[in-house]
Amino acid sequence: MKTETTQSGLRGALRAARKAGKSIAFVPTMGNLHSGHITLVREAARRADIVVASIFVNPTQFGANEDFDKYPRTLAADSALLADAQCDLLFAPEAREMYPDGRAQATAVSVSGITEMLCGASRTGHFSGVATVVSKLFNIVQPDMALFGEKDYQQLAVIRRLTRELCFPIDIVGVPTVRADDGLALSSRNGFLSAAERQQAPLLYQTLSNLRSAIESGQRDYSMLTQAAIAHLGKCGFVPDYLEVRRQDLALAGADDRELVILVAARLGTTRLIDNLAFVLS
Ligand code: PAF
Repeated sequence: MKTETTQSGLRGALRAARKAGKSIAFVPTMGNLHSGHITLVREAARRADIVVASIFVNPTQFGANEDFDKYPRTLAADSALLADAQCDLLFAPEAREMYPDGRAQATAVSVSGITEMLCGASRTGHFSGVATVVSKLFNIVQPDMALFGEKDYQQLAVIRRLTRELCFPIDIVGVPTVRADDGLALSSRNGFLSAAERQQAPLLYQTLSNLRSAIESGQRDYSMLTQAAIAHLGKCGFVPDYLEVRRQDLALAGADDRELVILVAARLGTTRLIDNLAFVLS
């Protein structure tokens, strides 16, 4: 596996493959890779001739009081995992390569309508940071397809929307969430959990599963159901940010909607965890 740190190096490294008509799949990441990321890379290798991954801890998607400084940077271990998973090319730029004008950058991508609620309500500017960096990465890599985990459900919706509306000729592939045996969705932030918090954390997914069962059994008062679930999480040591039942296009769900997703974000100690569960009522 080759590693490039500059836009020109990355473009040069892909030139021959592009000329030979090879298909290119792209897996953008912020590093500190776990089996969820490796599943994306293996799926990319199954679908395309060349796999490019990026590692860049994007400063513009972190708020002032968030964990940008302590976000784990583990490039050597990540490179070994990527090489083992048949990644062909790693793009690992410095901040000045991605943001040549630094804080003076005047251009940003914003996707309205689906970014103001859920994670966007408490993380102001987060999705604009994601949309901006993903657009830059798409322009640099110019892949045929890009793969993202479904764990970041709202992020995936934002990326699908910007890809369509900014006319990127890229297929966006969502890949199911990878979970630990106890149900906890894999995330780089799980490493921040203490041993006791790690024991508690699977309750998030259990709560989603219990809510799905209640809805499948015919209960439709989503406000009452989510308030009870939020109260339960609170009693068990979580500080919930939101827990909502939405339509799969993220519009508010009504009693007649069949394609649903339950989304949750909650803090456990100092760690913010998110998860979701999408399902279709028969
Ligand atoms: O999901 C992530 O790891 C990041 O938000 C992404 C898509 C790589 C953009 O920085």
